Amino acid sequence: MKSLSSFIPLAKEQIQKHLALASFNRPIDCYVFSDIDSTNRFLKELPMSSTYAICSAETQTQGRGRFGRTWVSPFGENIYLSIRREYDCSLSKLSGLSLVVSLALLASIQKQSIQQDIRIKWPNDLIWNDKKLGGILIEMLTNTNGSIQIVMGIGLNVNTHTKDNPLTDKPWCSLYELTGQYFDRNALIADILVSIDEHIELFLEYGFSYFQARWQKADYLQDKVIDVNQSQRTMNGLVLGVSNAGELHLIDAQGREHYLSSGDTSLSR
Ligand code: BTN
Repeated sequence: MKSLSSFIPLAKEQIQKHLALASFNRPIDCYVFSDIDSTNRFLKELPMSSTYAICSAETQTQGRGRFGRTWVSPFGENIYLSIRREYDCSLSKLSGLSLVVSLALLASIQKQSIQQDIRIKWPNDLIWNDKKLGGILIEMLTNTNGSIQIVMGIGLNVNTHTKDNPLTDKPWCSLYELTGQYFDRNALIADILVSIDEHIELFLEYGFSYFQARWQKADYLQDKVIDVNQSQRTMNGLVLGVSNAGELHLIDAQGREHYLSSGDTSLSR
């Protein structure tokens, strides 16, 4: 998985080879591009005939983050990966999915023998040493037949050198910064796909409560005072944890408890 070279090109055949090595045999429509505007946008506009498709690219010219932010996507260094799956279940059954996807991403990173204490900031940012390592953008499309198509977009900083590459104004890091080593992105993408698949199977069967203990171990916000920006309001409170539906549980200065299902979280200064 680790690589001596900082640049091994992305290749569909390589991703498929690593999936086969992991005995992952589900049929997938696999798209790999040199450049694209956004892998999420591409999969969202793919005809509905495909029930399981993935898309990755060396760079994105209009990479999208949560809350309309831009996801800076330098060429050939990191993972920009989207997965589209169809689920035949109610929307409420998928509450907590974005947290589960971040746990799956974390598990696939830990599988690379990376021992550092990487945490998850609710709902799905990967954080190391207060710096962002990766993020997830989940978008949902409903079909006329009632099934739900989900596009899960994953941005993971892999081989970028953090010192000479100011990605954003917010602190960020990469797997290279954590380990001093380069990673083969094809192999890592295959591991991420397998991990997400396994996690979602368990999630659909047992719900988010199955992952509560793992979440608590990885929770970056637990017992911290935070600000949460929502479209209509900003809240401030102490984080008590997450509910069995994956909602953020916090208590404000007046002692009122809140369960939030969306929002942009940051540590209170
Ligand atoms: C965030 O933390 O704001 C979420 C970032 C998600 C970025 C990924 S990169 C692959 C996929 N395509 C996009 O345009 N965005 C997601």
